[in-house]
Amino acid sequence: MTHLEYLALVAELNRHGHRYYTDDRPEISDEIYDAKMRDLLAYEAQNPLFIDGESPSQRVGGAPLAQFTSFTHPRPLKSLTNVVSDAEFVAFYDRVEKGLGQRDLPFTVEPKMDGLAIAIHYRNGVMSVAATRGDGISGEVVTDNVKTIRSVPQRLSEPIDIEVRGEVVMRHSVFEKHRGDYANPRNMAAGSLRQLDPSITASRELDFFGYQLIGPNIDSHHEMMKLASGLGFQVTPDREVGRGRAWVLDAVTRLYSNRSTYDWDIDGVVVKLDSISLQNELGTTAKAPRWAVAVKFPSVQAQTLLENIIVQVGRTGVVTPVAVLAPVTVGGVVVRRATLHNIEDIERKEIYIGDIVTVQRAGEVIPEVVGRVLRGEDSRPFIMPVNCPECATVLIQNEGEVAFRCTNERCPAQVKGRIRHFASRDAMDIEGLGDALVDVVVDNRWASAPHELYTITEVQWASLERMGAKSAENLVRAFEVSKSCSLARFIFALGIPFIGKTTAETLAHRFQTVEALQAATRDDFLSINDVGEKMAESMCSYFADPVHRGWINGCLSAGVTPVAAARTGGVLAGKTFLITGVLSRPRSEIERDIKARGGAILGSVSSKLNYLVVGESPGSKRDKAIQLTQSGKASIELVSEIGLAEWWV
Ligand code: IVH
Repeated sequence: MTHLEYLALVAELNRHGHRYYTDDRPEISDEIYDAKMRDLLAYEAQNPLFIDGESPSQRVGGAPLAQFTSFTHPRPLKSLTNVVSDAEFVAFYDRVEKGLGQRDLPFTVEPKMDGLAIAIHYRNGVMSVAATRGDGISGEVVTDNVKTIRSVPQRLSEPIDIEVRGEVVMRHSVFEKHRGDYANPRNMAAGSLRQLDPSITASRELDFFGYQLIGPNIDSHHEMMKLASGLGFQVTPDREVGRGRAWVLDAVTRLYSNRSTYDWDIDGVVVKLDSISLQNELGTTAKAPRWAVAVKFPSVQAQTLLENIIVQVGRTGVVTPVAVLAPVTVGGVVVRRATLHNIEDIERKEIYIGDIVTVQRAGEVIPEVVGRVLRGEDSRPFIMPVNCPECATVLIQNEGEVAFRCTNERCPAQVKGRIRHFASRDAMDIEGLGDALVDVVVDNRWASAPHELYTITEVQWASLERMGAKSAENLVRAFEVSKSCSLARFIFALGIPFIGKTTAETLAHRFQTVEALQAATRDDFLSINDVGEKMAESMCSYFADPVHRGWINGCLSAGVTPVAAARTGGVLAGKTFLITGVLSRPRSEIERDIKARGGAILGSVSSKLNYLVVGESPGSKRDKAIQLTQSGKASIELVSEIGLAEWWV
């Protein structure tokens, strides 16, 4: 085979691959494809220096990474507002018409794929970066992993700059083949994409469906999707366009009744205003666009006997009534326990122990008891215990709060909950420290607060029943690994009331160090978008408490060194920047991102300026920069917002 023949074979195999993986309409048999592939691999084995970057053999992925790099999305990836009833949908629809002062607008209706969102950037038609959604503002770079997904083109049929967003999913058939410990295809898709070793991702046979295209100047979502498909993407199937509320509701119902015919999980229907200029006119809220909505499918329910109601004490002391049920299968999962939320809820629903109740499981959330079906003969009402079931402290109900609480911070249930949360996967991710082991640690009084975990020795671990020397060693290693965590994880691990993962990430971005976070005032907190009164209060009182300061200092002196993810590297160190024109995010945020990476912001265009970030309708700064550069007085490079973001990948 000559090299030219080899290149032709690369192109041919890519074309067949596309027919197979994206269009699902192969032209040649698997045997012929495999034979051609063998020829290709044979040539490559003999000419390793001449392997083409676009060869299908290169999709198996590059070398494993040590860790993921973070990527700030040039435009945040918002989520969708959910509606669960016709009435809520009608409210959305009417809001759109009212907001625009127009009626009978075209909408598209398409399935909501249940996977994880990613954004893929192409420059000159070549894939440059692919990143996970993350918290919507920044995600993780997974380019090599995304290259292993066959339904994602590495090169487009046109040399353009675009961003494609879509869902990475796993087919049911593939899930059944590989499943392992994963609970569902979505978890498995997410776990497979976040592998440091792309060859593992490659083996998981993921799929991608595009649902948004950014860049081309087209004023219609469905035309945009046609273009995406023409460029080589697999896009969400069964899209429909139509006008009028009744039509949209019909289309939603149609998709709903077809949902089980798909080979991947669909968890709702997305309704989008078709016109992109009208989408922009409506804009978005902090969380979600005003021009689209997700109609969620009703969750699965079943009926069973409510055998008992017990109470559980959480890590913040809140006491939750838990239903003990006669085991029942709900949507394929056996349910034995379900939440009853709080005492008021039980009273309102008039649920007694001994009743037959309806249990519901919606998505990932804990199963809940939604209501009573039948009153049993011996049914009796539930009475909230007076004392904490774990430490006998008298439970109290704060004014204005529904929940009962155990106020004893040393209550074993709280201590265990706190430590479990600290060690959990999204927090410090201490592998091997499961719930049962946490119980032992607390019952043995080896640790009564998170930081004390780090004082437990390998000898102590090894002394536990059923703990081999190897497991003890692994556990100690897991603790060591956890010490170099991201600041966001550390903040989340503290378990500050109302501070979830996303807020922890925002706080880490903003404050960069634990010390700065502890020193922050209420106003500092409130100046952050997405942080409200309740969160600010919660953080102030958390950090003011000497006990909590003790936990934090204890962790730091044990060697925990939380690092704010985005600022490592300092890729822009020594470079100067200025911004002109309208960008997708507030200028202050972009400046913050530049500074976070070591760059400096100048006040005006001068010979000291290295880069001018140019947005839409740039002002005179752009002209001046060009003029200075052309006259040789400066050397200023113009960069776009996307160009800038790619820089710090
Ligand atoms: S459009 C600005 N279309 O649902 C809104 N999203 O709950 C852009 N999703 O994060 C989203 N299928 O990952 C859109 N056909 C579809 C979708 C879809 C699944 C996911 C997406 C998003 C989440 C929002």
